[in-house]
Amino acid sequence: MPGTGSPSTSAALCIGLMSGTSLDGVDAVLALFGAQTFTPQSVLGHHHVPFPAELRAALLALQHSGPDELHRAALASTALAEVYASLIATLLRQTGKTAGEVLAVGAHGQTVRHRPELGYTLQLNAPARLAELCGITVVADFRSRDVAAGGQGAPLVPAFHADLFGDPTRHRAVLNIGGIANITDLPAGSGQAVRGWDTGPGNCLLDGWVQTHRQQAYDANGAWAASGRVQAVLLGSLLAEPWLQGPPPKSTGRDLFNMEWLAARLRTGGVLRPEDVQATLVEFTARCIARDIGRFCAGVEEVIVCGGGILNGHLMDRLATTLLNESSTPVALCSSADHGLPPDEVEALAFAWLAWRHMNDLPGNLPAVTGARGLRILGARYPA
Ligand SMILES: Nc1ncnc2c1ncn2[C@@H]1O[C@H](COP(=O)(O)OP(=O)(O)O)[C@@H](O)[C@H]1O
Ligand SMILES: [Mg+2]
Repeated sequence: MPGTGSPSTSAALCIGLMSGTSLDGVDAVLALFGAQTFTPQSVLGHHHVPFPAELRAALLALQHSGPDELHRAALASTALAEVYASLIATLLRQTGKTAGEVLAVGAHGQTVRHRPELGYTLQLNAPARLAELCGITVVADFRSRDVAAGGQGAPLVPAFHADLFGDPTRHRAVLNIGGIANITDLPAGSGQAVRGWDTGPGNCLLDGWVQTHRQQAYDANGAWAASGRVQAVLLGSLLAEPWLQGPPPKSTGRDLFNMEWLAARLRTGGVLRPEDVQATLVEFTARCIARDIGRFCAGVEEVIVCGGGILNGHLMDRLATTLLNESSTPVALCSSADHGLPPDEVEALAFAWLAWRHMNDLPGNLPAVTGARGLRILGARYPA
């Protein structure tokens, strides 16, 4: 369980800040670690702020190379630190805690490039500035060390998922549907057998298409997609993407799954109604996830879902149906809330946990998940 520390660790408060590939905003969680057992009451507070429109646009533009991008990246990093700091101030106010009581902030930063095959992954962040602004030690740049050790640098949440949701008798998996979707496989009493990987797109293509055609940040509850019809030829061409066929360990991002990727596959068919494309994207997303569960989580009994995709009712319906086809045994789909943790708190809590691990000189990666040569202490520390 998170917080079940080794004898040398003591109880401490940590904050986790997560802003994922959806670019919707930042989630922050304040939690107590190092106590004997973790319960939902160990999470003392959660707060979400959407990105200001200007910063979101800047971060979105930085997903691709372009003129003056180093300068724009530096400015966006500074702006991120301001957003993070004000979020931390709100969280402290809400929970009645002071900066001096918090051991560390785990700040993931905003991924703008993820190219582990080239030896790098890049999260925009300004941890020194954040430490100045909030007066708390900041741990940042969690992924680079794993990449340096030959790993994918992602996903980093499986060790935490295992701590939180692993069960001695029940084979579970944790599915996080953010911009990209990732799975953690937790066989019963798994110990070393934990595996995790990205399955492909989560919300990123759905958000991109609805933004282009309806100027909405997301397709609320998947209602627009539900009004369209799945196009078999397009679906086939999406599912043929070579990256999807490979086995774990694997990770991906907007570097691959973006609107240009979709446009290239739309060019080969006739003109389609936008709602039919959205319906097809939902089907595609559900199939990528269900296929990987069928292929790599044989015998899983329960899939615990977190991340914003759980609020897309149509996607969840399609996922339940496709899972029936892809799995040889019945699989129960449930929300992380059924296990005491709201779905929008899980990933931010994971980065609070990773900060706590760093501060206690404990490794945060799982080599079997990322492909790294060994366990590594993740992150760099910026003292208060
Ligand atoms: N009511 C909703 N209906 C459908 N999708 C939603 C809803 N609320 C949030 N989402 C989806 O969840 C995404 C945010 O999920 P999140 O877990 O924060 O992803 P990330 O970790 O990539 O930031 C939004 O971009 C959107 O696609
Ligand atoms: Mg988010």
